[in-house]
Amino acid sequence: MGKYYIEHVDAWMIFDSRGVPSICARVISGAFKAKAMVPSGASTGQFEALELRDHASAFKGKGVDIALSHIRGLIRELLLGQPLEPAILDQKMIALDGTADKSYLGANAILAVSIALWRLAAKCNQVSDFDFIQSYCAGRRCLPVPMINIINGGVHATNELNIQEFMIVPHGFSDFKAAISAASEVILRLKSHLQETGQGLLVGDEGGYSLQGSDPAKVMLLLNTLIDQAGFHGKINLALDLAASEYYDPKLGYRPVDQWLGPKEYLDLVHRWVKDFGLISIEDPFADTDEASWEQFMALSPSCLVVGDDLFVTQSDRLQKGIVRKQASAILIKPNQVGTVFETLNCIALAKEHNWPFIISHRSGDTEDTFIADLAVATGAPMIKTGSIARSERVSKYNRLLEIEYEAMDKGGIQYGSES
Ligand code: PGA
Ligand code: ZN
Repeated sequence: MGKYYIEHVDAWMIFDSRGVPSICARVISGAFKAKAMVPSGASTGQFEALELRDHASAFKGKGVDIALSHIRGLIRELLLGQPLEPAILDQKMIALDGTADKSYLGANAILAVSIALWRLAAKCNQVSDFDFIQSYCAGRRCLPVPMINIINGGVHATNELNIQEFMIVPHGFSDFKAAISAASEVILRLKSHLQETGQGLLVGDEGGYSLQGSDPAKVMLLLNTLIDQAGFHGKINLALDLAASEYYDPKLGYRPVDQWLGPKEYLDLVHRWVKDFGLISIEDPFADTDEASWEQFMALSPSCLVVGDDLFVTQSDRLQKGIVRKQASAILIKPNQVGTVFETLNCIALAKEHNWPFIISHRSGDTEDTFIADLAVATGAPMIKTGSIARSERVSKYNRLLEIEYEAMDKGGIQYGSES
């Protein structure tokens, strides 16, 4: 292909799924245009790149006018006339920002432009987003196993559950459509159960039901019963995101249920849950500052994946330390925790180099943008976490994966789940 140059950069305010302002950026080269929308977290890790907010009176301080002005000003000035080489342009934006946490330009501003640039390059090359991104990655593509949120708690719901996410993981299937269809069957069974028991059908931020009651063990028992009744024993397992930083106090310990537990007592409880409920994966079981508990837990060789989200925040230096100190066994990948596609791909490459499974993830405040679905396929991600099969900002990612699987049928198909 001939060289393409950036001819236009702009951005405007949009809303995310919680009705909070976010950013859509657009870049243009010749006849090709690409745009990208960025998501936003609620249980945001303290080590994440900074999302720049106006802190003015509008939108409870969450306006994005300053971040937009950076795209329309400094970032546009930097990019106009440059050759369309997204990895290089990401590095130029990182240098222009010049801070460790992207607090000058804002990680929300930088990421919106970054994703739009990678998309634009795919369009100019006349390939799909995942085809283009894959050319920067080692290894095979695959369709990821979905980790499907079924019950929301913590800061994602207004119920009494302190645990943030209960997920079902349909790993025992030969293709993505069969897997997500089986998960849908379990969700429908839960829906009927809630209706029959008069519990109502409220959902949380990620589309999972917001149950009454505060006992996580009862919830897991119910979900495993529904999985068994649907005939998927051994093919669908449970996973949790505890988001434990949200209920940790260095003096009092952890509060996963109605009472505070000391770190040792809490660690034993989590270990028991893994065994009793056949958990396949457990994310952020400990606070991001309580590194000793992560290391003690790993020393017990738990039978599930131990996933660092707030602990690693998609940042290679934090992951490197986690690998050396055996703090976890897998990493959650959220592009907006680091702020560019380039750095996201580097972090994934590091995980791959050490045979660490990585899980591509949405945020609790998300949009209809489906970039993470393409990112998961391109990088051969073993898993993706993108909410329940409910609410369009969640379903859009699953629908994109169904589209990719369907379109690949004529070309020999795509493997479901990674080999590792
Ligand atoms: P967040 O939740 O987007 O609110 O951080 C998702 C997660 O913790 O994995
Ligand atoms: Zn998490």
